[in-house]
Amino acid sequence: MWDYTDKVKEHFLNPRNVGAIDDADAVGEVGSLACGDALKLYLKLDPNKERIVDAKFQTFGCASAIASSSALTEMVKGKTLEEALHISNQEIAEFLGGLPEEKMHCSVMGQEALEAAIAKYRGEEAPAHDHDHEHAVMEGEVVCKCFGLTDVFLKKVIAANKLTTAEQVTHFTKAGGGCGGCIPRIKELIAEVMGAEPQVAPKRPEKLTNLRKMQLIQETLEKEIRPLLWADGGDLELIDIDGGKVQVAFRKACAGCASSGFTVRTVEQKLRELVSADITVEEVEG
Ligand code: FES
Repeated sequence: MWDYTDKVKEHFLNPRNVGAIDDADAVGEVGSLACGDALKLYLKLDPNKERIVDAKFQTFGCASAIASSSALTEMVKGKTLEEALHISNQEIAEFLGGLPEEKMHCSVMGQEALEAAIAKYRGEEAPAHDHDHEHAVMEGEVVCKCFGLTDVFLKKVIAANKLTTAEQVTHFTKAGGGCGGCIPRIKELIAEVMGAEPQVAPKRPEKLTNLRKMQLIQETLEKEIRPLLWADGGDLELIDIDGGKVQVAFRKACAGCASSGFTVRTVEQKLRELVSADITVEEVEG
């Protein structure tokens, strides 16, 4: 059973904006029934063709696909096409209070449908068709033949979501989840993206307010620590912050791990190094 947030459950049980718009200005379609997930997104613009005044969707997918599509239609209303294009798959997931990592591909599918709809409306390169598959970003070399995904698309998702393992790439895009033949190439793409990332030396602010300290702790856990745990099949959740006292709960492979004491110290060391020397980390049941 997936651990869905209340907001995911609520959008799944009462999805907003289901259906078609007959006189839609833009329509984007991604996925295929053969893959198990498909999404068709309809956008209606105001008479000046500036802002999105209505959005509807039809989807064939799981609870998180329905919730992600519902969230997306709510998020785009009132936005210009340019503003809508800036909605990332992370923002769709955040709108829902988070998605299980294995279901992040649903948020990526929403973002793809949006890009496809806007590209079609603007008369930009129409998404290429790969027999059963239709994706918004088809330029580049096809890496995953099972799901018709290209290196350009995969590198974009890897970079945007800071993915570090082939398993994560499967969770976010499905690539590698069929025959598995593309996994070696996916690993190469991860290495290419990681190698291309500039190594910025962490900067510690002079004086931290409590609010800034909390933000930095959250950012460091998200960007520096969780990706390391994901690489080993583990994860952690931030439970509470009280001054310099940080409480975390370990998940997946890290939960109940005999060496979690070591992991707590590693997390503490990293937070002291990147945020503030007075931080202590404690593991709690969560
Ligand atoms: S080619 Fe990617 S899973 Fe088969």
